[in-house]
Amino acid sequence: MAGISDRSFRHICRSFGADFAVSEMVSAKGLVYGDRKSRILLAADESDKPHWVQLFGSEPEIVREAAQIVLAAGADLIDVNMGCPVKKVVKTGAGAALLRKPERAAEIMQALDRAPAIPYTIKVRTGWDHDTFVLNDFIDMAATFNAKALTCHPRTATMMFSGKADWDKLLSIVENAPLPIIGSGDIDDVDTANQYLSHPGLSGIMLGRGTFGRPWFFREIKEFLRDGKSWSPTPELKQKTILKHGELLKEEYGEKIGLLLYRKHLSWYIKGIPGAAACRRHIFTLTDYSAIRKIVNELFGPPHL
Ligand SMILES: Cc1cc2nc3c(=O)[nH]c(=O)nc-3n(C[C@H](O)[C@H](O)[C@H](O)COP(=O)(O)O)c2cc1C
Repeated sequence: MAGISDRSFRHICRSFGADFAVSEMVSAKGLVYGDRKSRILLAADESDKPHWVQLFGSEPEIVREAAQIVLAAGADLIDVNMGCPVKKVVKTGAGAALLRKPERAAEIMQALDRAPAIPYTIKVRTGWDHDTFVLNDFIDMAATFNAKALTCHPRTATMMFSGKADWDKLLSIVENAPLPIIGSGDIDDVDTANQYLSHPGLSGIMLGRGTFGRPWFFREIKEFLRDGKSWSPTPELKQKTILKHGELLKEEYGEKIGLLLYRKHLSWYIKGIPGAAACRRHIFTLTDYSAIRKIVNELFGPPHL
């Protein structure tokens, strides 16, 4: 997820059992033309294996060349974004624009299949809008070419994040899909996760917003799958995790940018606690790590005697 699934957040999610953690979306063109910021997004921890990097691009040869750069940098798998509805991406012909240009999407897959073949997956939405449902076509196309899996967020591009993800539609067509299908959208609780994971047509689920301020959601799901019991992190584990997240962000971005990003995550971490709104306002005024650490310790640390 752009702006979210950086190295630090992936590390934290992995520590709670995420089997995969896809990178932020990286511009294929940016990589090929040597853009430093795009290159930085390829950084990963040793533990982040398999290292799965998402690219966006509209030109088959550029996407292929970028994929080769990504693999040479140590990644194991490429995900090609064909679902991002954000204007900045769509206007370049990439992301969800490809849902309206299936022939171009096919050319991209064909370029990736050329020897030596690139291991890749595809991420889509169900279509551009309600009148153009193309999920079936994209599943068939991804299987005809050599995509390893396809992830679908079952909203249309024009919906952006409004309304609800149409899981009924997704599940109704994936039963005998010719390649592994991963579903993504509105999974916010363990029961829902479990329900989709047990569907025979799905090979996995991808979590997005449900992990904001709740990276332990992965473990909540896994513990439930293991023994049917609910699990939740202790305040101590939350405290440790949140502090660790701050350290990782500082390491990844340096003090100044790290702090800005940490404040964003922290505002999610405190969601639901009494006085969260006032606390959030306060957090956004803090300009050094020690003040933030103090707040975390006050909120999640052992009670003062
Ligand atoms: C802030 C944000 C950034 C996202 N960035 C990406 C992205 O870069 N690539 C992508 O494939 N999906 C991206 N998504 C979509 C998510 O991967 C996911 O498919 C979608 O949010 C539905 O899942 P959710 O309801 O669990 O969030 C993003 C979503 C959010 C909220």
